[in-house]
Amino acid sequence: MCGIIGYVGPRNAVPLLIDGLRRLEYRGYDSAGIAIIPDGGKILVERNQGKLAGLEALIDGKNLDAHTGIGHTRWATHGRPSVPNAHPHRVGRIALVHNGIIENYLSLREALVGQGRTMASETDTEVIAHLIDSHMQAGMGVEAALRKTLGQVHGAYALGVVCEDTPDVIYAAKKACPLVVGLGKGENFIASDIPAILAQTREVIYLDDGEVAVLTPDKVHVTTVDGRAVQHTPDIISWNPVMAEKAGYKHFMLKEIHEQPTAITDTILGCITPERDGVTLPELGISADTLKAVTKINIVACGTSWHAALVGKYMIEALARIPVEVDIASEYRYRDPIIQPDHLVILITQSGETADTLAAMAEAKDKGAKVLTVCNVVGSSAARASHGVIYTHAGPEIGVASTKAFTTQLVALYLFTIYLGQLRGTLDADTRARLVADLTRLPRLVERVLGHEPAIQVMAKRYFRYTDFLFLGRGIQFPIALEGALKLKEISYIHAEAYAAGEMKHGPIALIDENMPVVCIAPPDRLYDKVLSNALEVKARDGVVIAMVGENDTEITSRVDDVIVVPPSNEFLAPVLYAVPLQFLAYHIAVLRGCDVDQPRNLAKSVTVE
Ligand code: AGP
Repeated sequence: MCGIIGYVGPRNAVPLLIDGLRRLEYRGYDSAGIAIIPDGGKILVERNQGKLAGLEALIDGKNLDAHTGIGHTRWATHGRPSVPNAHPHRVGRIALVHNGIIENYLSLREALVGQGRTMASETDTEVIAHLIDSHMQAGMGVEAALRKTLGQVHGAYALGVVCEDTPDVIYAAKKACPLVVGLGKGENFIASDIPAILAQTREVIYLDDGEVAVLTPDKVHVTTVDGRAVQHTPDIISWNPVMAEKAGYKHFMLKEIHEQPTAITDTILGCITPERDGVTLPELGISADTLKAVTKINIVACGTSWHAALVGKYMIEALARIPVEVDIASEYRYRDPIIQPDHLVILITQSGETADTLAAMAEAKDKGAKVLTVCNVVGSSAARASHGVIYTHAGPEIGVASTKAFTTQLVALYLFTIYLGQLRGTLDADTRARLVADLTRLPRLVERVLGHEPAIQVMAKRYFRYTDFLFLGRGIQFPIALEGALKLKEISYIHAEAYAAGEMKHGPIALIDENMPVVCIAPPDRLYDKVLSNALEVKARDGVVIAMVGENDTEITSRVDDVIVVPPSNEFLAPVLYAVPLQFLAYHIAVLRGCDVDQPRNLAKSVTVE
């Protein structure tokens, strides 16, 4: 999830680009750069690894002046944070910036290298620049070359392109990644998101997938990739700048809950085989032979990531038939774990910087294990120290309470499980095809769950004054009960704990009374009747039950106090769908309690100390 800005007009582009990038830093900040065309001259590119302040220091005093330019702040997807991997990428007479993921970049890159071209970076973006340049070398103008290139790339993109041949033009293209055109008076803008340009104009056009925009200072011409003209009625943005950074949502956490369909889609992108009967993980970094020989897996993490690890255990043991042990990182690092060379240790960490998780990784490596990290930050300490990595493409997660990072961790584990199953022969092609088909439907199912927010917001009004909660789940949903309890406690400060529902009778049932709501996760799976009994045990003791059930449920619905309905999916993806309503419940209760949802007291987004 990178940030793009572009300007063409009578003013000096440089300060406008820098200001725009500063307002986009929440979209990514591991490197930044600009490309400008000083009057009539050659393209000038300035790039810096690290935060935007580094780029500002780099160009300070250079008196850069140009009326056309593009800028980019990066959230790495392919290629670690570095200056060569920073955007803009310049090839020949063009420079471009890109947000998105090009699925077929490896094959395109091989073909370009085969034609004698030299790649200066590890990115998929540079491949686009080389394709455009190759068509220009064959005699095409830059716009035709761009259109031809868009027909060759598969995946998601928001692009800004400038060319020395047309110094007062910006070319933009959009597919599956946001890109808006800002309409000024004698000047025009492109941006990934409204905050970048809101200080300059409130009149915008939201480009649609498959559209190309050509901007000059006085005109914006929008067409489809194949050149058919498209008419857009400009929108007038009423947000203030602070609201704009949250896309109009009250908190980053709420924005990130709603970003989950996109985050899941982006995490899946490029990981499904063309035949759609399996998974491909080209960047995994651990050989198939190594994975075939694995006799045991340890998954190690902290907090919400540990909950993901617990779900992963159910997935891997059920579908790949490998024994899995799950540990809290702060325990694992000190318990002198027994590790053999054919053990695989998986670390799950959104930030890639959690001290306990990094220490656990070091312990596993010291004892000879292969280490794989599931991580949301390219080039993070954990990613760099691992033998292999599976990236979640959730984009920056600003809210301290993890939401989209968690559900994309579950998706990454699901992908890895199918990959293991196909390597080790525990999943036949039909089963894999069914699991893959279920996965491709997941983003739309999450969209449906997001539609329940208003009902959950009303429900929160009935529960925000309680001081204790109990969350119950069985099997693969027990970790979701843990996650629901953690979400509630960390942002609303209400005491909440979770139990495997079968454990209720071994103690927690003594707590049940009308003062402690009990959330029962009861999907229509093979354990439904057991959870139903637990819910009735609570009701029989004057308890208050909020049940999470499948559609058309009849058994529990009529016998509890509140119900949250969740659409059907296979049992291994159900944890994603049942986690989302619990995110909403915690969020709206915390808001009603006046808590600081994005920065809860005593918490940090990444716990980089013991
Ligand atoms: C989750 O909402 C919390 N923010 C916290 O438990 C977090 O999951 C934990 O600190 C692990 O962070 P990591 O995934 O970045 O390693």
